[in-house]
Amino acid sequence: MKKIAVFASGSGSNFQAIIDAVRKGELEAAISLLVCDKPGAYCIERARTANIPTFVFNPKNYHSKADYEQEILRLLENEKVDFVILAGYMRLIGPTLLKEYQGRIVNIHPSLLPEFPGKDAIGQALAAKAKWSGVTIHYVDEGMDTGPIIAQERIRLEENETRESLQQKIHAIEHKLYPAILQVLLTKGEVISGKKACTY
Ligand code: GAR
Repeated sequence: MKKIAVFASGSGSNFQAIIDAVRKGELEAAISLLVCDKPGAYCIERARTANIPTFVFNPKNYHSKADYEQEILRLLENEKVDFVILAGYMRLIGPTLLKEYQGRIVNIHPSLLPEFPGKDAIGQALAAKAKWSGVTIHYVDEGMDTGPIIAQERIRLEENETRESLQQKIHAIEHKLYPAILQVLLTKGEVISGKKACTY
């Protein structure tokens, strides 16, 4: 069974969906670690409740990204983590982690990439009066939400769409799609998305 580490910065509702899917046997993986860059974030509480070890750090206490990523890398290697799963981790992954884990780091983003990358994808979609947005699951590279796409699901925006209503629709999709795609990726090593098959 593959071992995963989840990286999160916020509430961690996607982290919770992964925990629940593992518990139900729908996602055959072992969650070895939560990595969180925001002391006090609610995802830490979720890890505690689920008895998942955590590494919580404040980037301000390190000289550089390389310094804290080196510490994270040591933990990942100690635990023999196979895959890194980003779930609302609001930081770019640097060369230290990419060197060892490229092709084994997956992210979920609340838009149809390449549209609306970066922060506040929901706000960007609303400001652009987009007719469609959605969710993208992709491999992570050195860019901002630029890695190869694994899966996407579309959402039609209503005329009176609000931040709250769109957020709710996005989360509803994310909480189903992420565990389902991870199950295929971690157990079969490939994901069929539309006409494309991505392998690692
Ligand atoms: C999710 O919607 C995720 O797609 C987004 O942050 C949210 C975290 O929610 N990620 C990004 O914007 C990454 N660029 P959660 O903490 O409730 O899982």
